[in-house]
Amino acid sequence: MQKPIRVALVAAWCLFFVAGTGWAEEEENCLECHEKRSPMVVEQWRESAHGREDVSCMSCHDPDISKTIVSDLCKEKVAVVVSPAVCANCHEKEVEEQDGTKHATTMHFFVNVLQEGWTVKGANNDPERATGCYPCHGSVIKDELNWVNWPNNGVGRVNPDGTMGTCTVCHSHHRFSLEEARNPTTCGRCHLGPDHPQIEVWEESKHGKLHAAGEKWAPTCTTCHMAAIKDNVSGKEISPATHDIGNRLYWEIQAPLTTVQKDKIFFKPQPEVAKKNRERMRAVCLQCHVSRHANAHFEKFDKVVVDYTENYFKPAKKLYDELKQKNLLSPRPFDDKADWLFWYLWHHEGRRMRIGAAMMGADYAWWHGAHDTKIRYIELWQEYKRLLELGRADPVPYLPGAVFEKGPNLRPGIDVPDLRKMQ
Ligand code: HEC
Ligand code: HEC
Ligand code: HEC
Ligand code: HEC
Ligand code: HEC
Ligand code: HEC
Ligand code: HEC
Ligand code: HEC
Repeated sequence: MQKPIRVALVAAWCLFFVAGTGWAEEEENCLECHEKRSPMVVEQWRESAHGREDVSCMSCHDPDISKTIVSDLCKEKVAVVVSPAVCANCHEKEVEEQDGTKHATTMHFFVNVLQEGWTVKGANNDPERATGCYPCHGSVIKDELNWVNWPNNGVGRVNPDGTMGTCTVCHSHHRFSLEEARNPTTCGRCHLGPDHPQIEVWEESKHGKLHAAGEKWAPTCTTCHMAAIKDNVSGKEISPATHDIGNRLYWEIQAPLTTVQKDKIFFKPQPEVAKKNRERMRAVCLQCHVSRHANAHFEKFDKVVVDYTENYFKPAKKLYDELKQKNLLSPRPFDDKADWLFWYLWHHEGRRMRIGAAMMGADYAWWHGAHDTKIRYIELWQEYKRLLELGRADPVPYLPGAVFEKGPNLRPGIDVPDLRKMQ
């Protein structure tokens, strides 16, 4: 140990006895260095519910609490990674609710179930994934921390103790704030952009506009997807506040082929669960609207789902499948123009159309949605005709940034526990 630190330690130790602050001994041990070194951490913690309730640094950073990665930069060993298993010691309900959600299981889904073209089949590389997938979806933290996986604040982070997810996505350390979690921009860090524009849709809806104008009755993301639902007349709670963000969804509208909600491990449709979810979402609306108003919304939305599926998705998929079947596409992902056109049709425009209709953003439902999907269909049709005439596949010889064929390890660090095998 370096000399100045030892002197500081002795000084702090004396102070502890003299001043008798009431802080636990381990607290004193952390603050003696981190008060100066990390003023942000200490101030946020002091002002938080945790600081006020004497939840000590070691209640989260004690390396014995969960199997984790340990740092020896401090006087004693501390946990660097703080997983939901740590929070579960005091917030079991929230951790259990989050556990089985799409947020927590997203890496299982796209690595094990979907075998996604970008991560698993190597259409891109580590720097692209570490900056462009994992900050939202989560990284895989196994035996060591490195630039690919750390630091990470993605919803489905795979922690060293095997747990999935992280709570600091919405409650950043060390304030662990409810206000932050309830703010739509917190969700909008990930729920935005050309392929999942939930924040833009909400902002342009009447609800978002009223929220911007300061109306307290304007519903936010958490009002509809997480907050408790109450029956105005009886005053009874219909459904409690929840960290299960899928709890009120009927459809899987992010998917190429929209189906009713699926379970999050095997991904089998669950019509009964979906129906209950819909009733919960309807009950959300009825806290502010009459049933005629709410029902008309869901009727419109469901008709758009059918419109997208029957008039856009299925005909486009038929063209794409025919190209594959006739060997007019290369087997690798994303190196043919038709791969991209088909993908854009469901992943960008087709999603915008459905998300716009779900959350009342007319500009997204039509201009960025149905309108753009029509144009994309025409482009796919033209490419389909071109390839039929050409009579062979016409992929790019070199896909920039892809690691396929450069093997042997196309998916470094992407080894996600398969939840199907743990059932
Ligand atoms: C003797 C001084 C000292 C004490 C006491 C101390 N730390 Fe640290 N801590 C450090 C230093 C130095 C770093 C590294 C700072 C850097 O890299 O910029 C650090 C880093 C950390 C990190 C990040 C570790 C990593 O590897 O990324 C955590 C978490 C942490 N401290 C928590 C604590 C907790 C909790 C306590 C109380 C049990 C504590 N520290 C006590 C000096 C100390
Ligand atoms: C309620 C749990 C909790 C408490 C209490 C807590 N921390 Fe942390 N701390 C975390 C989490 C979560 C992280 C981020 C690690 C992760 O993402 O897994 C973290 C990260 C850190 C870091 C690295 C910060 C950075 O951005 O580089 C330091 C240093 C640290 N904690 C010190 C402390 C100290 C000192 C205390 C007491 C004053 C404390 N922590 C109390 C949960 C906690
Ligand atoms: C040792 C027990 C303990 C641990 C571990 C713990 N908390 Fe807490 N937490 C509390 C207590 C006590 C409160 C204040 C009373 C309450 O709201 O239940 C609190 C409050 C909260 C709140 C509400 C804050 C507010 O302003 O009302 C959030 C959010 C929270 N904790 C998140 C977390 C997260 C995330 C973790 C893990 C990184 C964690 N806590 C770990 C005990 C703990
Ligand atoms: C800005 C945050 C963000 C980035 C960056 C991002 N995603 Fe996503 N991703 C999301 C969100 C949010 C959804 C959910 C969309 C929805 O439900 O409408 C999603 C959905 C998905 C899905 C669909 C899962 C399902 O349930 O059908 C896959 C697969 C996926 N992303 C993979 C990736 C990959 C691979 C990358 C990097 C190449 C990436 N994402 C980059 C936020 C992001
Ligand atoms: C997707 C964002 C999000 C994530 C991730 C998240 N929370 Fe929350 N959390 C919220 C919101 C929003 C609220 C406030 C709900 C409300 O207004 O009723 C909340 C409330 C809480 C509360 C206060 C509950 C109460 O009854 O007052 C605690 C404690 C808490 N969260 C802990 C956690 C823990 C532990 C985790 C990780 C398992 C976690 N949160 C992950 C958004 C999130
Ligand atoms: C750090 C990024 C991130 C943040 C912040 C975030 N989400 Fe998500 N969310 C995702 C990703 C990624 C998915 C898609 C996972 C998948 O489909 O595999 C998702 C999926 C969802 C879903 C679909 C769930 C399902 O079962 O199909 C809902 C609803 C949702 N998020 C709501 C919210 C709300 C509300 C907030 C804010 C309180 C929020 N999210 C904050 C990344 C995030
Ligand atoms: C007025 C209520 C309401 C508000 C406010 C709201 N949503 Fe939604 N959200 C819905 C409805 C309704 C659906 C469609 C549910 C279904 O499948 O039947 C939905 C669907 C979703 C989905 C699933 C989309 C998919 O691709 O599967 C996500 C993710 C989502 N919302 C996130 C958000 C975010 C983030 C915000 C805030 C920026 C938000 N929502 C605001 C009502 C709302
Ligand atoms: C917390 C209250 C609240 C909740 C919950 C809520 N809304 Fe609203 N909504 C409003 C307010 C306030 C307005 C603006 C009234 C107006 O139309 O002038 C509004 C407007 C609307 C509009 C626009 C009407 C128009 O004239 O264009 C639609 C559509 C709508 N809501 C549907 C829904 C649906 C569907 C749900 C449930 C998924 C829902 N709302 C949940 C408060 C709420």
